[in-house]
Amino acid sequence: MPDTVLFVDDEENVLSAVTRVFSGTDLRILTASDAARALDILRREPVAVLVADNLMPGMKGMDLLKAARSLSPDTVKIMMTAFADLTTVMEAVTGADAFRFIVKPWDTQELVETVREVVERHRVERSRRREDDSVLHALAETIELKDPYTRGHCERVARYALMMADALRLPEGMKKDIRYGSWLHDCGKIGIPESILNASRKLDADEFAVIRLHPDWGAEVARKARMSPTVVNIIRYHHEQFDGGGYPSRFSGRDIPVEARIVAIADTYDAITTERPYRCAHAQESARALLRSLRGKRLDPEITEIFLGLLAYREENGSAGGNDGEPPGRGWNESCARGNCEERESMFGGEEA
Ligand SMILES: [Fe+2]
Repeated sequence: MPDTVLFVDDEENVLSAVTRVFSGTDLRILTASDAARALDILRREPVAVLVADNLMPGMKGMDLLKAARSLSPDTVKIMMTAFADLTTVMEAVTGADAFRFIVKPWDTQELVETVREVVERHRVERSRRREDDSVLHALAETIELKDPYTRGHCERVARYALMMADALRLPEGMKKDIRYGSWLHDCGKIGIPESILNASRKLDADEFAVIRLHPDWGAEVARKARMSPTVVNIIRYHHEQFDGGGYPSRFSGRDIPVEARIVAIADTYDAITTERPYRCAHAQESARALLRSLRGKRLDPEITEIFLGLLAYREENGSAGGNDGEPPGRGWNESCARGNCEERESMFGGEEA
């Protein structure tokens, strides 16, 4: 069932504009021309996101959000207004539990992205409360849909990360969090425009700056959804590098939480054994050689060594590892029709999302 987003505004043209903007998306859009009608809808059915104008005849948007807080605590609230002063913003955030603030007139793309981000937050929070593996996993798949080249990526990252967690004899609770963190590590990508995420050309500095925001964006969503610190650490620090050359915090060595160092290895290995828009996949042998060369630079040397040992063991025992159980050679360099691999491969080394 699609998630419902309820827009409340006394201006009819605003309601018809948002209905038009979201038509054809996987969201169900409801509209209400005043707060009373909005409260009726909130009493009647679950609403994922409530977007309310502030200045309306009758009950103001601020009071509607406050009423919605007790009536529908799971609904994520957004305040939308033409008059944004600091007092209103503070009251909306602290008094009415507003999660975002949109200033009118809005930029359409920004509005769509904000609503989508907030819907994702609602899904994370809902699944966390239910401790529902399938919903969290489905959320990871939704993230992958934005980037078709990463299909199955989150599941494979979880599998590789858990191989390492088992070998390191980490406690069961931590392993569960590593699985969730692996699924959600790129959830901040939901905020990156697809024109950047799926670009088959070299990105410019500004575009990389946007990509570098995704760990913090994702960690903030997970933190607000009260995911465990282990999950938040994985999301926030999965692009840190052992030598300090990563982002967003430029942590190095053991200052990077071990769960993030593990997922970074799993993420890197899967990235280099699958095809991306800007380069082809590595075959098994060269993937391992590349992983080996990253020890102590991008990746934790000891845990990478353990992982290489596990991959070798799996291969000797008939399970090749690599591209989601596919036999080595299928869908890899020799079948890659993109060409130009060498040139694009030079982009690898810290700049993969
Ligand atoms: Fe990432």
